[in-house]
Amino acid sequence: MSFSDTVNSPQQNFAPLKNDRLLRALRFEPVDTTPVWMMRQAGRYLPEYKATRAEAGDFMSLCRDTARATEVTLQPLRRFDLDASILFSDILTIPDAMGLGLYFEAGEGPKFKYPIRNQADLDRIPTLDVNDSLDYVMRAVTSIRTEINGAVPLFGFSGSPWTLATYMIEGGGSKDYRYTKGMLYGNPQFLHQLLDKLAIAVIDYLDAQVIAGAQALQIFDSWGGALGHRQFIEFSHAYNKRIVAELKVRHPTIPVILFTKGGGLWLDIQADSEADALGLDWTMPIDRARQVLRASERQLSEHYQQPQRRKAVQGNLDPATLYGSPETIRKEVKAMLDSAYACGEKTGYVANLGHGITQWADPERAKVFIDAVHEYQL
Ligand code: CP3
Repeated sequence: MSFSDTVNSPQQNFAPLKNDRLLRALRFEPVDTTPVWMMRQAGRYLPEYKATRAEAGDFMSLCRDTARATEVTLQPLRRFDLDASILFSDILTIPDAMGLGLYFEAGEGPKFKYPIRNQADLDRIPTLDVNDSLDYVMRAVTSIRTEINGAVPLFGFSGSPWTLATYMIEGGGSKDYRYTKGMLYGNPQFLHQLLDKLAIAVIDYLDAQVIAGAQALQIFDSWGGALGHRQFIEFSHAYNKRIVAELKVRHPTIPVILFTKGGGLWLDIQADSEADALGLDWTMPIDRARQVLRASERQLSEHYQQPQRRKAVQGNLDPATLYGSPETIRKEVKAMLDSAYACGEKTGYVANLGHGITQWADPERAKVFIDAVHEYQL
């Protein structure tokens, strides 16, 4: 029996949301203080995470274990005054379900036994029934949403087609994207076939997460910044735009955040999408990002002859800031928030790190970051 057979529209049975600061900021409504969460907020920097993972055995067993995946999602919420939770899982669940054989080599990160290098590899990729092969993810979403009991909204997430494709083609993480870029310039139609399959899977995956209980979505385009600017439009943005457009048809009220690491130069390009917010890494000043987005929205409104959805921004503290002293962290948070609100509009912004928290961060310093965001007077 698949997940969808056992759970009929669970959304209606969940507790009402008590803290809607994040959703309000994304809609440009007034907020009492700045909403904040951290990418990768559940992870190895927390001793309690390491203990639960040890019980589960390994990382993928932890993802598949509903009770333990729920537990590690809630761990950071017990320590910190966070305004959102994020499903504990991984972006590589999709390629794993496609049969690429995901495994983790100690100290080396994720790897695939069967990378995609030729047409035969590509043709072997099945059309996913996400409620079957990824049903453990949907069960985790519903379990987490139930346990959180309305305290804060729950994010679902996926990797972008481009970012997933880099892992699938390289067979793991990469610094130079030798094979992926080799295909991009040598056989672009092949890469487009793969990206198209991934876009369909990502739409179904995020749709299923919303039906299971996710209240907001983030797309991690973690390696979008590795592309040239023309190639970014064709091989990353075009697919992200299509995914967001389809999700807005299926779930018009669920906000979608698009995070392209290294994408600060391309905010005007990403403005041409129905995303509710764009994530920023630490290289882009937030005040400048907001100026670019306002100008793009005016231009696009004229171009399409209709008002465009306003885009909030999320980010963008350098995760390494947490290696600094509490004073340094507070100083950097103040500078970040001054920049976020320099335009005079005290909403439309979600505080976060500019990428995931690292395994070397001290949880006490993470707490300094989160509290400093909330203490800032709007
Ligand atoms: O944010 C959260 O707390 C939710 C959980 C989450 C994980 N991975 C858990 C995880 C999320 C949102 C991700 C997304 C993810 N996974 C991305 C996109 C985000 C980003 O950082 O750009 C990427 C590129 C991956 C791929 C991936 N998964 C890598 C590179 C690794 C190894 C990372 C490392 O630190 O060694 C993973 C494994 C992984 N995913 C871990 C966690 C907590 C560490 C696994 C462990 O316990 O050893």
